[in-house]
Amino acid sequence: MSDGQIIAGYLAPHPPHLVYGENPDQNEARSQGGWEQLRWAYERARRSLEEQKPDVLLVHSPHWITQQGHHFLGVPHLSGKSVDPIFPNLFRYSFELDVDTELAEACCDMAADMGLTTKMMRNPKFRVDYGTITTLHMIRPQWDIPVVGISANNSPYYLTTEEGLEEMDVLGKATRKAIEATGRRAVLLASNTLCHLHFSEEPVPPEDMAQEHPHDYEGYLWDMRIIDLLRQGKTQEVFEVLPQFIDEAFAEVKSGAFTWMFSAMGYPEIPGELHGYGTVIGTGNAVMEWDLIKAGLAQAAEGEPA
Ligand SMILES: [Fe+2]
Repeated sequence: MSDGQIIAGYLAPHPPHLVYGENPDQNEARSQGGWEQLRWAYERARRSLEEQKPDVLLVHSPHWITQQGHHFLGVPHLSGKSVDPIFPNLFRYSFELDVDTELAEACCDMAADMGLTTKMMRNPKFRVDYGTITTLHMIRPQWDIPVVGISANNSPYYLTTEEGLEEMDVLGKATRKAIEATGRRAVLLASNTLCHLHFSEEPVPPEDMAQEHPHDYEGYLWDMRIIDLLRQGKTQEVFEVLPQFIDEAFAEVKSGAFTWMFSAMGYPEIPGELHGYGTVIGTGNAVMEWDLIKAGLAQAAEGEPA
C-alpha cells in the first residue's frame, strides 16, 4: 500500500442558504433560487473533486462546538435531520453519511499523542451540525465518499486568537500524520466564511438577491486582500495578517478550520484557485481550491494522469 497523502484542500464555507437555494430533495424548505455565484462556484469545485477521486473527505466545522477538546465523528453510519438553529426556516436537511472511523481514530490518537485533548464521538443518534452537512452537500451532493468530521474546539475564543490557532496548527499536523499512516488519499475541507458581520433581518423572500450585498465596505476590502494574497500563493503573508483580519472583520476563520487545513497541507506557497466569491446575509464567502497534485506536492492515483 502506498503512503497516504493529502491531495487537495478547499475553502468550503457553509451558509445553509446555498443548500436552500439549490432545492435538493433532502432539504424540506423550498426556494426560488438565490446566491447563484456561490452555487456556481461550488459546481466548479465539484468537478475538480470528481477528478481528484479522494478516498475520504475531512471537514472541520465551526458549528460542531466542543468546549473540552477536539472531537471526531466515530460512528460508521450516521443519519438524521440536521437543522440550522438560526435559520430553521431555510435548513431542515435529512442526511445520511458514512464515516471513515479508522482514519478518525488515527487522527484522534495522533492529536492526543501531540498533546491535544481529544475524544471520539460515539453517540449513534448524533445530529450532525449544519456546517458539516452544508459543506459536504455543496462539495459532493452524491454523499458517496466517506467522511471524517472534526469539531471546533472553542480554544480560540477562550484563549488569545494566537494561542487558539496554535492548537489548530497542531491538529492539522496530527491530521496529516494520521492520513499518511492510514494510506488514505484525502481531501480537506475548511468550512469557513471570511468576513462575518451580517445583517440581523432577513428579506422576504430570503432569496431576494436585490437585498444581498456586503455588510460593510471594510469587511469587503479585507476579503479582497486575503483572496488576492491566497491567489498569489502568499500563504505566509496571509497567516501574518490573520489575527488582524479576524479582529477587524470578525472573520469566521477564527474558529480554526482554515489554520487546521493549511497546517495539514504544510502551508504551501502555491496559488489557490478561486472558484467564486459571494455574500450571504452580508458575510463574505469564497470557494477556493489548492490542488496539491497539480502543484507537484502529491502524486496522482495509479492510472490517472498527473
Ligand atoms: Fe458559520
